[in-house]
Amino acid sequence: MGSTPRTSGERERAGAAEWAEFAAALAEVRDFVGDARGRPELRPLFVADGGVSARFDRPSPLPEAALPLKDALGELLGVLEAGYCNASHPNYHAYFAAKPRLEAVLGDFLGEALNQTPAAWRAGPGATAIESEVLAWLADFIGYPRGVGRWPGGVVVGGGHLANLCALKLARDRALGPEIQERGLHGAPPVAVYMSREGHFSIPRALDTLGHGRAALRSVEVDERGRLRPEALAAAIAADRAQGVVPLAIVAIAGTSGSGAIDPLAEIAEIAARERVWFHVDGAAGAAMAGLPACADAFSGIAGADSLTIDPCKWLFVPYGIGVLLVRDGESLLRAFPSSSHYWEELGEPDLYAMGPYGSRQVRTLGLWLLFRRLGAQGLRGLLGELLRLTSVLADRVEAAPELELLHRPELAVCAFRARVRGASAEANNRLNAELQRRLLEEGIAYVTNLDWRGTTYLRVGVNNYALCQGDIDRLVDGVISLSARIAGTAGPPDSRE
Ligand SMILES: Cc1ncc(COP(=O)(O)O)c(C=O)c1O
Repeated sequence: MGSTPRTSGERERAGAAEWAEFAAALAEVRDFVGDARGRPELRPLFVADGGVSARFDRPSPLPEAALPLKDALGELLGVLEAGYCNASHPNYHAYFAAKPRLEAVLGDFLGEALNQTPAAWRAGPGATAIESEVLAWLADFIGYPRGVGRWPGGVVVGGGHLANLCALKLARDRALGPEIQERGLHGAPPVAVYMSREGHFSIPRALDTLGHGRAALRSVEVDERGRLRPEALAAAIAADRAQGVVPLAIVAIAGTSGSGAIDPLAEIAEIAARERVWFHVDGAAGAAMAGLPACADAFSGIAGADSLTIDPCKWLFVPYGIGVLLVRDGESLLRAFPSSSHYWEELGEPDLYAMGPYGSRQVRTLGLWLLFRRLGAQGLRGLLGELLRLTSVLADRVEAAPELELLHRPELAVCAFRARVRGASAEANNRLNAELQRRLLEEGIAYVTNLDWRGTTYLRVGVNNYALCQGDIDRLVDGVISLSARIAGTAGPPDSRE
């Protein structure tokens, strides 16, 4: 095992042995995954035993000796079993992570097993073509214009953070001119980026990474639902211009990570056009819903964006590790990441490494392609519509329960509410909801997160799972009501009144 074959006969025998070992291991992986996904309720929502923590704190020594694949795999599956976050569980409602569709898993597996990369046409022409097609389909699916010209209207990256970083790079190059790529920031004017107070932390991170500093972010006031106030945006831009600050970009959020709020995109698009400022929409999670009739009003204006972030690994049910930046003008990406390689010949072929920050990379779009093809846009819209319907059912149930309080009617598939003991102090109710979050998980009832909304603690429920049904929503609500009664009943009298 592991020794280099010396003849073609030896190579064939070694290849056959490797394949046989792989096929047996694959069957074991299939069974493991089948159990985890098929009866997810039999697995804890979250487990990380002491052995897993110790392994993180003190990684074991480099193994010198070979091990049969069966044994190595057994050890690996053991670690995953002892440290596991069950995103396929019907009451996993954390973040935006979804149970991945198996078509998507299969496509990703295929790309990896064949080791194709869309970085260069010569290293994966099929993968490159599929990637370009997926970018066009994504744009069609959400009502964003397909890129013009020969190059795809977007770039595939590892997640929403990097997509947002690329967007700000494009905006920066346009506002300060392409010379900035050579000269750097020395002598450049101060700049500002505008985003609602509810926007995502990847934007200040990107400003730091690009060298402008986090102080370049203007956190714009929001309304009672957490949506950016256009008049406050216009005022902030005017104040900066008066001081000689160059507005770099306006970032609108289409689905905040907290409550799912969607900024008024059409009004923001107008301001951006009037001010000639780059308009970026961060729709990492929310943009997937943009093509649904129920969301048409909220997303009107999306087509006016210069760039848009969408993370298919959120509400498009593909595994982690794919974010997409769509742009109106694909060539702007070529200009933003000028490159020539000494190892990939310049043959006039579409080498996608020239359009983004990566060199070689995994092809992460085969899975998404297979998903679009298998379900069709109609089928995908059907799944997303069902998430919205179940979120609405959840909100109805919360409104009907006297011991619960809804933050506001959800627009997307995320719903925030809290348990509330009447007469208890604001602090006591905050503590109750923090403890509820922890105990819901500990007792295996549900994995929800906390949302701090203007000093009040809520439970935030992401309705992410395409296999969810109404009984799961009922179980969640009933679980919250009975657990909060138990906690409030044992917590002693409230210390002061709300
Ligand atoms: C609005 C928004 N933008 C950006 C991101 C960052 O995405 P990622 O974690 O894929 O980098 C998130 C993540 O949840 C998000 O909700």
